Formats: sequence, C-alpha cells, structure tokens
Amino acid sequence: MQEKINNPWRLSVAPMLDWTDKHCRYFHRLLTQKTRLYTEMVTTGALLHGDQPRHLDFNQEEHPVALQLGGSEPADLAACAKLAEQWGYDEVNLNCGCPSERVQRGAFGACLMAEPALVADGIKAMLDAVSIPVTIKHRIGIDRLESYEFVRDFVGAIADVGCTVFIVHARNAWLQGISPKENRELPPLRYELVHQLKREFPGLTIVLNGGVKTDEQIAEQLLHVDGVMVGRQAYHEPWQMAAWDQRFFGTAGPARNHENGREQVEVEWLKYLEAQVASGRPWTQAMRHALGLWNGQAGSRRWRQIWSDHQYKAMDAAAVAALATQSRTGIAAHVAEHQAQTEALRQAAAAA
Ligand SMILES: Cc1cc2nc3c(=O)[nH]c(=O)nc-3n(C[C@H](O)[C@H](O)[C@H](O)COP(=O)(O)O)c2cc1C
Repeated sequence: MQEKINNPWRLSVAPMLDWTDKHCRYFHRLLTQKTRLYTEMVTTGALLHGDQPRHLDFNQEEHPVALQLGGSEPADLAACAKLAEQWGYDEVNLNCGCPSERVQRGAFGACLMAEPALVADGIKAMLDAVSIPVTIKHRIGIDRLESYEFVRDFVGAIADVGCTVFIVHARNAWLQGISPKENRELPPLRYELVHQLKREFPGLTIVLNGGVKTDEQIAEQLLHVDGVMVGRQAYHEPWQMAAWDQRFFGTAGPARNHENGREQVEVEWLKYLEAQVASGRPWTQAMRHALGLWNGQAGSRRWRQIWSDHQYKAMDAAAVAALATQSRTGIAAHVAEHQAQTEALRQAAAAA
C-alpha cells in the first residue's frame, strides 16, 4: 500500500493548453501538495527558437512539475529535454495524444502513434540526454485502428528503449474532420484497454486519463492502474483537489487543515495576485484560473462575476477581493437565513 501511495504518478492534473500555465499550477498547489502537475504542451520549435524564459519559467512551489513537449525530431527532443532538466523540471513528457490539425502538420501529437519507431528514437534520445524521468502521453489508437494490439505494440516499442511511464488517454484520436474539443468527447472511452496494458506490462507505470470526474472514480481506477490523470474536472472544480492529499496520499492537504479552507486558499491566492501586480503583470491573467474556487457554494456566481467584471480590471486585487467576498457572504447569509426560516416553518408544521 505504502509503495502505491509513494508512486509519483498516482494522481496528476493533465497538461492543458491555455489553461495549465504557471499561475494555474500555483493555484492548484494551494489545494494539493502531492498531485503531480503538468505544463501546457510546448513545441520543440518554440523552445529552441523562441522565448525560453517565457515558456520555461515556473514557481518553485509548483514541484513536482513536468514539462510537456510536442515534437518528433530526436535531436530537438533531446535538446529540449536538457532544457527541462536545467530549468529544474521533475519530468519531461512527450505528447503523442494531441489530435489538432495544426499539430499534425508539424508531425507531432497523436499522428505519431502511427510511427512507433520514430517515437522510440525520440524517447531514446531524451533518455540518453537527461536523468529526470522521460514519460509519454498517448491515446489508445488513431482513427479506426481500434484493436488492443495496436496500443500494445506501440507501448511495447517505446518500453523497449527504456521508457517506463505511460499516460494513456483512453480514447482513440480521430485525425480528420473533428475538432480537438470533439476529440476529447466523441471517441468512446475504453478503460478496459488501459487496464489490459497494466496486466500485460506489470513492470511499467500505467496512468489512466480521460473522463474521470469523481473521487470515487479515481479510487476505482487506482484498483486497476498505477495512476490517474484528471484534466477538465480538476480545472473546473478545483476545490475537489483539496481532499486529494488526505484521500489518496494519506497526508493532510494544505487547505483541509482549516475549517475555513476556501478562505485560507483565497488569502494565499490574493498574495500571489498582488505579487504579480508588483512585478508588473495584471492580476487578471492569473485570476481566470481560480474562478471556480467557490463553485457549489451560496454566492459563488456573484463572486465569480465580480472577479471577471471588466469594470474592476484596473482595480487593486485586494479591493476586488473585498467586493467579491462581501457579495458572496451577503448572499450566503441570506440563503442561510432563508433555510433557517424554512426549517422553523417545517418544525412548526410538524408540531401542529
Ligand atoms: C483546454 C485543453 C487543452 C489541452 N491541451 C493539452 C496539451 O497541451 N497536451 C496534452 O497532452 N493534452 C491536452 N489536453 C488533453 C488533456 O490533457 C486530457 O488528455 C483530456 O482533457 C482528457 O482528460 P479529462 O477528461 O480528464 O479532461 C487538453 C485538454 C483541454 C480541455
């Protein structure tokens, strides 16, 4: 059991373009210390010819954090893996699951699943270049190639060069005719293929991804595989992560130490927003990732509206926070009062 809890890939938040930037990951760390975090995909071209600090800089609080690469040229992948190691990332991951047409033109992402030998060369070049873990994220198939043997042979070829961690999005990628968004919804989820991979390759770390929402589903999947990666649900319902350290790692999480955990997170987050402003960046860039913090609670809609209202964008983050909290707690108090009145009426009716 202890061995399972100590597995670094037991639980992670998926790489998500435009979403899991360094601000988002800092926010997620205020909710869970143990969950592994992934960057957005960065292409080898952007890293080798672009603004490296912009793509690679992160907050030290984010560890453990993995850099995800998009690319297929082994020498470029090796050079970028080195950069990941130099910048202090805990892992470098190769994206073989993205179906977008832009990505296909660059010959990387999910279309690489048709070229296991090229992927194996790339992974080997990365493994030879660095001592941090080199991992891969892929689908179970492409287009209408739906047999288990297809993904088994792909995993086998990559494992042969020494890769031991496979993050498997349990759907095919359909490379033509549908958008990346539809490609995360339309191809059916087939978890049993991922379970079968774990049975066939017991020595590999197999992480299941795709469509996992509740903590119960995570727990159920952990009976079959080594780890679970959660994407959209974690982003949209971040508070769910506050229970993860306790439930999946047996340690108290940063936010659940306190009865008023969400308030505590908000206080810490506000400090981060203010630090952003102090270094010349608008707080809005970071704040967009935290808008779901109060989801499900009375007043959350109003809180969210205030934080995203254009008219407040030039205001101090602390002033907006005060406004948002005032509205939220006002509504919450109103709801509580209403509930108390309803309960009193119910009791009176029962007693009559
Ligand atoms: C907005 C968005 C951006 C994404 N960007 C990436 C990416 O950069 N790299 C990647 O491997 N997957 C990317 N994905 C796919 C996710 O990592 C994940 O595989 C997918 O959402 C399925 O998991 P989920 O059902 O838990 O969200 C993205 C998903 C979303 C919603």
